[in-house]
Amino acid sequence: MNALHHSHDADLLSRLGAASRSIAETYLEAAHATLAELVARPGLLDGISLARKPGNYARNLVYGDEDISVWAMVWDVGARTSIHDHHCSCCFAVLKGTIEESCFSAIDTKRAVLKSTVTHGPGFVACMLPTGPNLHQMASLGPEEAISLHVYGFDHRRHANSVEREYQLAAV
Ligand SMILES: [Fe+2]
Repeated sequence: MNALHHSHDADLLSRLGAASRSIAETYLEAAHATLAELVARPGLLDGISLARKPGNYARNLVYGDEDISVWAMVWDVGARTSIHDHHCSCCFAVLKGTIEESCFSAIDTKRAVLKSTVTHGPGFVACMLPTGPNLHQMASLGPEEAISLHVYGFDHRRHANSVEREYQLAAV
């Protein structure tokens, strides 16, 4: 790197970098608090007609503006996403049932290796930035359908979904 050689300039830019992180962290904290409040509300989705897809998951847009879109996902038993990362922030809460989440490390732009798998139950909330370790796959293993609420940092009128790139599981 052809670094700026005045230490004052490096300090200036370092402070700017820290400020960008604090904005992101402030958003993630707010998203986490909002989802925690929503997920604790009985009957949150009452009166909303939710689409379902046998053997798969169905996305239901329940709120959208120029900054965020909020989706209720209904997961049939056996439904599974691809292994993917995101072009935007990704926050979600489990409302009903259980969701298995596996996290991966990319080894190139097409392949990933498994790092960990955890199961999330009702009330679980997670918030991630696109630049964080946010390469995952979500699955519904039953025994009943699952419902989760997702807050993504994209305008639903500009993007079809939150996925930046999809990966194949690498043979190790
Ligand atoms: Fe995702």
